[in-house]
Amino acid sequence: MALCSSCRTWHCVLALFLLSSAAYGQLSPSFYAKSCPTLELTVRATMIKALLAERRMGASLLRLHFHDCFVQGCDGSILLDDVGSFVGEKTAFPNVNSVRGYEVIDQIKRNVELACPGVVSCADITALAARDGVFLLGGPSWAVPLGHRDSTTASLTQANSDLPGPSLNLDQLIAAFAKKQLSPRDLTALSGTHTIGFSQCLNFRDHIYNGTNIDPAFAALRKGACPAQAPNGDTNLAPLDVQTPLLFDNAYYRNLVAKRGLLNSDQVLFNGGSQDALVRQYAANPALFASDLVTAMIKMASLTPPSGTPSQIRRNCRVVNS
Ligand code: HEM
Ligand SMILES: *[C@@H]1O[C@H](CO)[C@@H](O)[C@H](O)[C@H]1NC(C)=O
Repeated sequence: MALCSSCRTWHCVLALFLLSSAAYGQLSPSFYAKSCPTLELTVRATMIKALLAERRMGASLLRLHFHDCFVQGCDGSILLDDVGSFVGEKTAFPNVNSVRGYEVIDQIKRNVELACPGVVSCADITALAARDGVFLLGGPSWAVPLGHRDSTTASLTQANSDLPGPSLNLDQLIAAFAKKQLSPRDLTALSGTHTIGFSQCLNFRDHIYNGTNIDPAFAALRKGACPAQAPNGDTNLAPLDVQTPLLFDNAYYRNLVAKRGLLNSDQVLFNGGSQDALVRQYAANPALFASDLVTAMIKMASLTPPSGTPSQIRRNCRVVNS
């Protein structure tokens, strides 16, 4: 860089480093190393407790983090309650009666506040909880990019437009992820998180009754708890992974190859299109899936609001500080 030749004192080098880190590198796994050294331990301990009460919570908090990051970046916007005239994201179609785990985030936040009051953002707590959920259910672990700040706004409109729905086709899924600077490879790796957790009948009814790319025996099995006529059984649950729904493994991809994807948006990843080869690779090679998943999770967790957006460290994840 041309500046280097004119920057010889260590003060000057330091200034350049600080400037560049402000522009690009403000997220770092060690962001709270000095200000809250017990953070990761506190999150882990609270997550272990939550998963002992209900293993599915690992899946639910992973999804909550995804739905946070796809709307205004990872900024805790999804956590804001509708109060007074404030309209948050909780009533958006992909979230309402579906996203769960808000109470666990509250619990982690309370525990973190006891040790390090006013320091750690709700967005970062959510990202760590998602990572721990994956790890505690048997998946990989990784260093989470930290230093996100909490938003003072939320966007119901963006939640409705940018969170992908289960009826999307492959081109639409690729476009929805491209809008967040995520590649088709990221899409296919991140979809592998559907190796844990559950879906309600209303989200897979059309696929099991009308889908053409589905194993008939699997469709019949799922029809048993998902009647054709809405709204009957709308909220009945089925595992996204027919084999091991509470274990974070690569069974999701073997299901797709066997045409046992639960959601239409799952099966389109293996339907004669551009992602078929990658799905086969992930089905055969769990280490490749784990490594691509970690890469994609870190990319997703690095999404930030436009610079200059007002932000704060919320004291209560559900409301903007007064
Ligand atoms: C590719 C586009 C995606 C679509 C269309 C989609 C759609 C869905 C739907 C419809 C459900 C069931 C919700 C319900 O019935 O209440 C679900 C569950 C879930 N999704 Fe996705 N999803 C996508 C990507 C992702 C990503 C990127 C992640 C995480 C990185 C993720 C993690 C999860 C998890 C863990 C569950 C289970 C949640 C639970 O059991 O509480 N999904 N998804
Ligand atoms: C199957 O598709 C038709 C035509 O789009 C639709 O009217 C019907 O509701 C679908 N059936 C189910 C069970 O979703």
